Amino acid sequence: MTIQIPRGTYDVLPEDAFKWQKIEATAREVCALFNYKELRTPIFESTDLFQRGVGDTTDIVQKEMYTFKDRGDRELTLRPEGTASIVRSYVENKLYGQPSQPQKLYYIGPMFRYERPQAGRNRQFTQFGCEALGSADPSIDAEIIALALTFYRKLGLKNLKLVLNSLGDPESREAHHEALIAHFKPSIGEFCEDCQKRLEKNPLRILDCKADHNHPLMATAPSIIDYLNDASRDYFSKVKAILGEMGIEYDLDPTLVRGLDYYNHTTFEIMGASQGAITTLMGGGRYNGLVSELGGPETPGIGFALSIERLLLALEVEGVSLDSEPSLDCFVVAIGEKAEQKAPVLLNQLRQAGLQADKDYMERKVKGQFKQADRDKAKFVVVIGDEELEAQKAVVKNMADGSQDEVAFAALTDYLKEKN
Ligand code: HAM
Repeated sequence: MTIQIPRGTYDVLPEDAFKWQKIEATAREVCALFNYKELRTPIFESTDLFQRGVGDTTDIVQKEMYTFKDRGDRELTLRPEGTASIVRSYVENKLYGQPSQPQKLYYIGPMFRYERPQAGRNRQFTQFGCEALGSADPSIDAEIIALALTFYRKLGLKNLKLVLNSLGDPESREAHHEALIAHFKPSIGEFCEDCQKRLEKNPLRILDCKADHNHPLMATAPSIIDYLNDASRDYFSKVKAILGEMGIEYDLDPTLVRGLDYYNHTTFEIMGASQGAITTLMGGGRYNGLVSELGGPETPGIGFALSIERLLLALEVEGVSLDSEPSLDCFVVAIGEKAEQKAPVLLNQLRQAGLQADKDYMERKVKGQFKQADRDKAKFVVVIGDEELEAQKAVVKNMADGSQDEVAFAALTDYLKEKN
């Protein structure tokens, strides 16, 4: 029996890999524009990190983690998201002590969640995320949102909707927490088992429940916006004002609570078109308590993450095609035994000179070699046969217009470099 790829995962075949490279290059380019630096962390971490960082009551920790024991009996987990790892690294490497603050960081890499696979929901997916640690300036909230929008727009997406909310500071959250308990407690028996557990521990999670989202008490639940204290309201007003002045439109949604526990103050999502329905392309928010929760000094933070999988779906729905596959500068066609011996040497010279070049390895006849040159989108074909070897020249055919030149071997790299 042949072995199949695990459910919820996929291969990126060479014909699609260029799209990923283009997306990743754009992410790096935009991060450079905004002065965010890459931080690479391991793909697995101590399970504790996510239990404490993402939160014990979240679906991610309760149902979705790939957790295992290694041979040394350590509890490890394949990272389900990037923020907890970035904060762990920030604390462990004492990045809070660096003179350059805030630390503006980004990452691109695979994340793992045991979810029910469907379009845009994979068990291994690739996140591009940014985190800014060390500043509680509302303009950095606006910056991080602007960065994500710039990235999507650079790739050609137009149909984007920014949704914004504030969860307030711990005092506001606590007041809202009490109000939610009072609201749900009398009827909690009508809710799912998960919600019953959430009631005392983390009632905000009830608002995010997939099973009970149609329960009438959901629509009338107390809204966080009504519980923001003056400082939280003021902070949120500043963020909204800066976004407004930057010309960034948004919708306010007081039910946007996000699925991870570390958030406070600003939370946001960007929605896009996907197979007719609107889906969340990206999510993020402020997490001022996370650094201290993970053993560092009291430090504010904010960030977002988006997946390349959902971005690709949105690009498809909007009919945006990324640049086509790269082509070859030249393909060497060899006719006859002597030419076949010369071809690898010539090819090597071309490559050393910086030309993207290839040749046949399948003993194809001349016609077959030209066909392979076409498949490789070669701009030029360099033909060598007995006569050409004798004269130390090659026939160079321009594949775009069919024109041909005879070029001395010694002049070949200069000729091709000039024409390419
Ligand atoms: P999240 O909302 O769990 O937040 O995920 C962020 C994004 O990752 C989603 O909007 C979506 O694009 C993508 N995503 C999540 N799960 C899947 C999946 N199973 N398959 C495909 N794509 C998926 C976080 O992960 C936070 N760490 C974001 C953040 C960074 N907050 C502050 N800093």
